[in-house]
Amino acid sequence: MKLWSGMLDGSLDKDAEIFNSSIKIDKRLVFDDITGSIAHVKMLGKQGIIGEDEADKIIKGLNKIEEKLKAKTLEIDMACEDIHTFVEGALISEIGEVGKKMHTARSRNDQVTTDLKLYIKKEGLEIINYLKIYSKSLTNLAKNHTETIMPGYTHLQAAQPVSFAHHLMAYAFMNLRDISRMEACIKRLNELPLGACALAGTTYDIDRDFVANDLGFERVMGNSMDAVSDRDYVMDLASVLSIIAAHLSRLSEELIIWSSPAYKFIEIDDKFITGSSIMPQKKNPDMAELIRGKSARIIGNMNQAFVMMKALPLSYAKDMQEDKEFIFDSIDTIKISLKIMAGQIKSLSVNKEKMLEACKVGFLNATDLADYLVKKQVAFRDAHHIAARLVKYAIERNIALEDLDLETYKKESDLFQEDVYEAIDLKTCLKNRKSQGGPAPEEVLRQIAYVEGKIS
Ligand code: ARG
Repeated sequence: MKLWSGMLDGSLDKDAEIFNSSIKIDKRLVFDDITGSIAHVKMLGKQGIIGEDEADKIIKGLNKIEEKLKAKTLEIDMACEDIHTFVEGALISEIGEVGKKMHTARSRNDQVTTDLKLYIKKEGLEIINYLKIYSKSLTNLAKNHTETIMPGYTHLQAAQPVSFAHHLMAYAFMNLRDISRMEACIKRLNELPLGACALAGTTYDIDRDFVANDLGFERVMGNSMDAVSDRDYVMDLASVLSIIAAHLSRLSEELIIWSSPAYKFIEIDDKFITGSSIMPQKKNPDMAELIRGKSARIIGNMNQAFVMMKALPLSYAKDMQEDKEFIFDSIDTIKISLKIMAGQIKSLSVNKEKMLEACKVGFLNATDLADYLVKKQVAFRDAHHIAARLVKYAIERNIALEDLDLETYKKESDLFQEDVYEAIDLKTCLKNRKSQGGPAPEEVLRQIAYVEGKIS
């Protein structure tokens, strides 16, 4: 029996029936559907659209269904068309004829989007929580590594010395933006669609503000056609999650590179790596690779949201039923990805010696060598040339800048003194980069404190 079987005979082609059904996907909205219905029915009773006693009966019936579902004495009937159909059917079985009054002054069009918004509000807050836990794993690890010198890269070519903490904190700052995007997304969707009915409102004297207030929405949506047509919040969330996924994917990529035998900067804990079935020496960073791989799905889901919506005429169209499968997938995938990334960061081992070694062979103090001369009034361009010649000389002899003798330095410029060695010591290079946002230990400690203040 279909909700809409009054005029049509309700018997769909078998394949069409399966094609049309969404309960497999939207069943997870069941408690939001019940919550939305309870608020709606309270309002119907208060406004005298149905009797107060009838409203009471319906609300009790809905509460009962919720209880039974939680106690597993009632199961969602997968033969129903969608979750709204199931809840209404279960209500009528529970309390009889009066249950048929629940759907007065609404439509599944305003109902489904209300349910989805309620669900996303909850999940959004949970994702923010996951983001904060992940962020904490970054700041905690960073605290131990403000003096752990590593190469900072551009073009994946070793450039200048930074600290491991500085590098980690770059991700913590991305994370702060992710949190603020997620908060803004929740705030933007926090308007009630219910009461728009099918598309053109209703002739009943409904009180939408009451329902909005009861369900924790900031206000009602101002136009009933927009209310049932709008999936901006799905596109918005899909985009926010895609940016988070892109950030996680970049860090995954770095973990993969840093843990490779050529770098050996870090070791990912055994809990997050797998071995090879044939090569006994292999330690494969599968979890990092999967986070990187799954980001493609999340970004693909965003694409699906936009393509699905971009040419739909107003107002509701069944295309929109497709919104749930991919947005649920993005929500689930980002949560598990954040959780696993936090776990990997928390249990990471850091190989400080390897990081330092990479700085030495990479001439990461070449800029500081030029800066040394600039501080002695040499123009930067000239200082750069002198430093470049010294680097070339060192490369040819396969030694580090700090291993060249003073005589060699003096051949290039007599401004070089014994103190050049102190100036190009990697520790000095790091310590002196104390400009705001820079890698000097004291400055990174300030960054850590700032992020911690934001996420606590
Ligand atoms: N299952 C539908 C969805 O997810 C509910 C709305 C159906 N409305 C309709 N007029 N067919 O979008």
